[in-house]
Amino acid sequence: MEYLNQILLGDCGEVLRDLPDNSVDLIFTSPPYADQRKNTYGGISPDKYVAWFMPRAEQFRRVLKPSGTFILNIKERVVDGERHTYVIELILEMRRQGWLWTEEYMWHKKNSHPGKWPNRFRDNWERLIQFNTSRAFKMYQEAVMIPVGDWAKDRLAKLSQTDLMRDESRVGSGFGKNVSNWVGREMVYPNNVIHMATECYNRNHSAAFPLDLPKWFIKLFTEPGDVVLDPFVGSGTTAVAALQLSRNFVGIELSPENVATAKDRVSEIQIALPLIIADERAEYQVAADVAPRAEAPMIPIQEG
Ligand SMILES: C[S@@+](CC[C@H](N)C(=O)[O-])C[C@H]1O[C@@H](n2cnc3c(N)ncnc32)[C@H](O)[C@@H]1O
Repeated sequence: MEYLNQILLGDCGEVLRDLPDNSVDLIFTSPPYADQRKNTYGGISPDKYVAWFMPRAEQFRRVLKPSGTFILNIKERVVDGERHTYVIELILEMRRQGWLWTEEYMWHKKNSHPGKWPNRFRDNWERLIQFNTSRAFKMYQEAVMIPVGDWAKDRLAKLSQTDLMRDESRVGSGFGKNVSNWVGREMVYPNNVIHMATECYNRNHSAAFPLDLPKWFIKLFTEPGDVVLDPFVGSGTTAVAALQLSRNFVGIELSPENVATAKDRVSEIQIALPLIIADERAEYQVAADVAPRAEAPMIPIQEG
């Protein structure tokens, strides 16, 4: 089967059977949420969510290389006035299937819908759960470094005696800081909270995530030429992100309408690709020039 750089129609649990073992470097996906959008595509009852997900996860595990990563964007919904436990149960079941629950990132949605409920505030974040099959997975931390920020100019201009040596935590936590380590650094590592606005404009899909979200993880966990799979690709956002970053993609989608939307988006990018790649290269060149090599581990500065 021809699968590289294709949007494939069908249930990912079935379609994936045609993909070879160990053929994918990153799985990045946002599956249908339990019952959440019953009117727009098949919802799954929260109580049956784990049983529905796990056979598909078995296929994800088979196609993912041992050096690869699986990022699952998901959030538990509220059922009968409390958060349902299907995400927690899913994590436990994934571990039983042989996955490592390596890390969890938080997507802080900078422009969440307004609203308020009598017993809670509005939902402003989603989980991005990282699973691996091995502890030795590929990770390119330098690719997501961020500018150090303006605070550094003032803070590092006048260093005290304490700033020049390792200052042990006063609460005895074992954490220390050496502020002078930051002098001359233009770029620093981010933390595990990703601040990104949702994209509200029309993608012909009610649950599309912003293009920059898959891009961030594609840069972090893959190199150009690697293969990125989104088994619930919807309007094709992950495929577009992969293409723009010179990675290969495989997208799978159950709804024929969404497949059509995703294919249109992908073709648009494929036509514009030579220009996009030239831009990306220029951007990468600049980033590589300003980013210092990270010989020493970063030590967070505690304010005060
Ligand atoms: C949350 S949406 C993904 C949206 C996508 N991230 C985007 O940016 O457009 C989940 C998608 O999974 C699709 N889907 C549901 N069950 C599926 C299955 N068994 N196999 C493949 N796709 C499925 C739905 O049609 C829906 O488009």
